[in-house]
Amino acid sequence: MIIVDDLHLNFGGIRAVDGASLTIEQGSITGLIGPNGAGKTTLFNVIAGHYKPTSGRIKLDGEDITGLPPHELFSKGLLRTFQIAHEFSTLTVRENLMMVPANQAGERLIDTWLRPSKVRLEEQEIAQKADEVIEFLGISHVANELAGNLSGGQKKLIELGRTMMVDAKIVFLDEVGAGVNRTLLNKIGDAILRLNEERGYTFCMIEHDMEFISRLCNPVICMAEGRVLAQGTAEEVTSNEQVIEAYLGTGLKNKPTKNA
Ligand SMILES: Nc1ncnc2c1ncn2[C@@H]1O[C@H](COP(=O)(O)OP(=O)(O)OP(=O)(O)O)[C@@H](O)[C@H]1O
Ligand SMILES: [Mg+2]
Repeated sequence: MIIVDDLHLNFGGIRAVDGASLTIEQGSITGLIGPNGAGKTTLFNVIAGHYKPTSGRIKLDGEDITGLPPHELFSKGLLRTFQIAHEFSTLTVRENLMMVPANQAGERLIDTWLRPSKVRLEEQEIAQKADEVIEFLGISHVANELAGNLSGGQKKLIELGRTMMVDAKIVFLDEVGAGVNRTLLNKIGDAILRLNEERGYTFCMIEHDMEFISRLCNPVICMAEGRVLAQGTAEEVTSNEQVIEAYLGTGLKNKPTKNA
């Protein structure tokens, strides 16, 4: 589904991505691991259109998408999640979900005057969709809570929920498990598995928690120093000597953890 070919991105003298090549198969939940500073987040940012690569190509379903801006990738079903932005913290969970769909008629001022019934209908449909998402994620009890009052883990669930408001094909998750308690992490894992199985979402996720990675991801890709070091099952990759060396090189504190 995604082919990354010999991608490079330099920040001044730093080669953040330095010849990364990888493939993400349709329908997979692909894990991306690697020591701090390996270039994982930068790779995501280049794929999702936030940075233009210095060189290299990215394809989505055979189409060259290198350098396309995020909103164009979004309309092609390629999404990268972020934590809820500050401006959304004063909106409720339901309102946060309702913000997502692009090209709502209500956003075109002229329509609110000339076609108010169309606007109302669209709003009803979006509200209904938001309620379905809230149901799917099992977060009805916080539907009317301000997003700013949620725990970090609940916010991550809303991030996932926002991808469900549009027709996502592939979703990039950056450390969705970081700082989340085990119970909520399991819930996020369940939601990812269900989205994968029931809605056919392809995922690529950066994660340091190896227990979480092992449960969800196949294959797992390990990056170090801006390029791919190894690929295989979680077990294969974590027992790969080059991978172990890469983690040792940055100090034990950066090793993949079992209880992040
Ligand atoms: N905007 C930027 N400007 C300059 N250097 C950057 C920028 N973003 C990242 N870097 C550098 O690029 C390299 C790769 O960083 P990146 O954040 O992609 O790593 P990572 O694998 O996501 O690490 P972590 O596991 O700590 O999140 C690092 O050396 C980092 O300092
Ligand atoms: Mg990162």
